Amino acid sequence: MTFSSSLFTPIPFPTTHRFSPKLKPLRTVTVTAVPAELDGTAIAVIGGGSVAALAAALSLTDPERRRRLQAEEVGGGDKEVVREYFNNNGFERWRKIYGETDDVNRVQRDIRLGHSKTVENAILMLKDEGSLQGVTVCDAGCGTGSLAVPLAKEGAIVLATDISAAMVAEAEKQAREQLQSESENGAPIMPKFEVRDLESLDGKYDTVVCLDVLIHYPQNKADGMIAHLASLAENRLILSFAPKTFYYDMLKRIGELFPGPSKATRAYLHSEGDIERALRKVGWKIRKRGLISTQFYFANLIEAVPV
Ligand SMILES: C[S@@+](CC[C@H](N)C(=O)[O-])C[C@H]1O[C@@H](n2cnc3c(N)ncnc32)[C@H](O)[C@@H]1O
Repeated sequence: MTFSSSLFTPIPFPTTHRFSPKLKPLRTVTVTAVPAELDGTAIAVIGGGSVAALAAALSLTDPERRRRLQAEEVGGGDKEVVREYFNNNGFERWRKIYGETDDVNRVQRDIRLGHSKTVENAILMLKDEGSLQGVTVCDAGCGTGSLAVPLAKEGAIVLATDISAAMVAEAEKQAREQLQSESENGAPIMPKFEVRDLESLDGKYDTVVCLDVLIHYPQNKADGMIAHLASLAENRLILSFAPKTFYYDMLKRIGELFPGPSKATRAYLHSEGDIERALRKVGWKIRKRGLISTQFYFANLIEAVPV
């Protein structure tokens, strides 16, 4: 089976931001442009300058401490911080990014574009096997319904869940607004929406999809999440995650220097090797993979199947 070509033609980084292992190491790097707002998928832009200054600045940041303080505030761990964030500041921020409003800054507009490519390519992956009419899909961490609604339009029977009640309410509103008119496949079935964290999901689905959620969790938690999601899927698991490479890791650390005015969650990058290992442990393997990147958004999109 062929892989979606658009996944292999990602929106390229502008030349100045392109980084290859063959290039000289970062000898002259400073932050030249810093978006007003950074979190999860937003990364600072770097250019020429002094790496010593950068290293000194990096050593002053302590994202772990920030995370601990956030967790203490909401009385829990990563998951409680994430739930709190996506029910409040995070909800407002991401609803704008995932929506169509013009009230977004340059960074948010770029992230919107990158995310839309991820959704588009996930749908292409899903349709690669044939029509989605009657196919059961669980969209774990559905956000505002960017994937669940188009899947319902394609005739899929969708369970859309999210840890954030605010996100689920917005996704349900979007579905009601968009699915009222008949799609080309006949009347779409309204997705079922539930406020649930993905670890508590049960049942069996032809395909389980989880886009841009793992970024909120460290690898040891992601392992368990991947195992659980795979246990729900009969045929396919589609995941996206922010890839851990030297370059992206450096960009993320620079981004952490500027946490921005709004409380943001900690962002975790995952190496493809770690994701592959987590899948292999539960008897799954990656069948298709691709990278989507814009200036401020980057994601690996994979499709896994039972071995
Ligand atoms: C960056 S958004 C992505 C939303 C959606 N998947 C998309 O791509 O449009 C991350 C979403 O994951 C949800 N989330 C985070 N941790 C979760 C968990 N443990 N279980 C379910 N949802 C979770 C958040 O509430 C948020 O809506």
